[in-house]
Parts: sequence; C-alpha cells; structure tokens
Amino acid sequence: MTLLDVPKHIAIIMDGNGRWAQKRMLGRADGHREGVNSARSIIEGCIKSKIETLSLFAFSSENWRRPPSEVDFLMSLLVMSLNSERESLLGNGVRVSVIGDREPLSTSLIKAIDDVENATRKCDRIHLLLAINYGGMWEVVRATKLIAEHVADGTISLNDINENTFGKYCCAPDVSYPDLLIRTGGERRLSNYHLWQVAYSELYFSDCLWPDYDESHLIQAIDSYRNRQRRYGALFGGSGDLALEGLQIDTW
Ligand code: FPP
Repeated sequence: MTLLDVPKHIAIIMDGNGRWAQKRMLGRADGHREGVNSARSIIEGCIKSKIETLSLFAFSSENWRRPPSEVDFLMSLLVMSLNSERESLLGNGVRVSVIGDREPLSTSLIKAIDDVENATRKCDRIHLLLAINYGGMWEVVRATKLIAEHVADGTISLNDINENTFGKYCCAPDVSYPDLLIRTGGERRLSNYHLWQVAYSELYFSDCLWPDYDESHLIQAIDSYRNRQRRYGALFGGSGDLALEGLQIDTW
C-alpha cells in the first residue's frame, strides 16, 4: 500500500493539563504552564516533519465557564507566552495567526496577538493557527451572518453560496483544512473545534496528557495518518489522497 504524504495541516486539541498536574499534587496552573512547553516542542517537531500548518486549540469559547481564577491564569499565560515566545517564533520562521472572537479579550492580550501576528507575518517555515476564544459553532454562525449581509447588499447572490464559498467566510479562509486532527488526554470528542473544516479530517486520539506529549507521540500520529486511506466518500483505488476542494457534497 502506498503511504500518504505527511499531513499538510495538523490540528491539535491539547487536553489533559489539569489531570497531569493533579497526578503530581500540583495546581492546575502548573499543568497549563507545562502545556506551553509541550506546545513549543510540538511546533519544533512539526517544523522538522515539514508540516505546513499547525492549529492549536488554546482557549475555547466555552472555557470561560471555568472558575474565574483559572480563566484569569490562562489569559495571563497567553499574554506572557505570546510576548516571550515572539522572537523565537520569528527566528524559527513561524507565522502566527490567531482565530476566534477577540472582542471580549483584554487589551493586553489583543496587543500581544497583534504584535506576534505583525512580527511573524512574513515567516514561511510553518503557519501556526492559534485558536483563542474560538468555537466552531461561533465560526459557522459568524460566516452565515457575513454571507447574509453580502446577499442583502448584493455582493453575492443566493446561488453563489456553496461549500467552497461558505469556507471562504470562515476564519483563515486561505488555510487548507486539517488533514489530521489529534486530541490528547483520552477523551474522544471534538469539543466545538474546527467543525466545518474537519468534515474529512483523519482523527487520532491519544491517551497521553498534553504536558507529556512530545515529538515521539507526534511522529506516531503522523505514521498512523500515513497508513490510512482517504476516500472522501468515493471508492479507493485512485491516488488515495484526493483533494477535498472541488468535490461536491452529493459525491461524498
Ligand atoms: C486543556 O487541559 C487545556 C486548556 C484548556 C488550555 C490549553 C492551553 C495551553 C496549553 C497553553 C498553550 C499556549 C500557547 C501559547 C500555545 P484541561 O485543563 O482541560 O485538562 P483536564 O482535562 O485534565 O482538566
């Protein structure tokens, strides 16, 4: 069997920071702090494996439901990490883009996001898509509203709306959809991540808690992906790696 190429785009739900800390009698904050180190080593691992895009789910639109002290800590950790890692991201050729609803974020976090996006905008070794206050359902509703506005003002007509145009109204419209979605921490759900874009992603669940997740785990996930067949609803026997773009929904 021919192996697939390495995935162009890997998306990761980084789960298990709290349990990692609990197992060590540490506070949940220590787990999140350690989680940043894992994120750094997985970004480096993806660069080595020549992955074009890495998406990381850093804070979901539902994470506000956590105790205020944990939300505050996560927000400060994001500000600190984006500021302290900016030079190193730039030096390593990592272009950072942030997706999600920025409106409720603090001015210091919005500034840290703007600064890292501006500093790294010409980098081209890997594209890091960080989801902060992001939810897949929010994204679909937002795209729908934008489309409705464009239909109402005549920019597009009803007949222009199809899977491809809808995708163009989602966040990061120029980024290819995830080929591989990894979730660490043992749970097997999507938790409102990239709902539109994972229609044909290969899913990989690892029991490893995120702070323990390292390059060897990443390589295992990539190997598992490479040994799969992607059919997109068609029959296998062709290249095995058809591009999703251009396929109509009634052929899936
Ligand atoms: C899930 O673990 C993790 C989060 C909600 C936060 C993830 C964020 C980071 C690791 C920081 C990454 C930062 C950058 C800049 C990339 P959990 O708290 O749900 O763990 P549990 O399921 O064991 O409780």
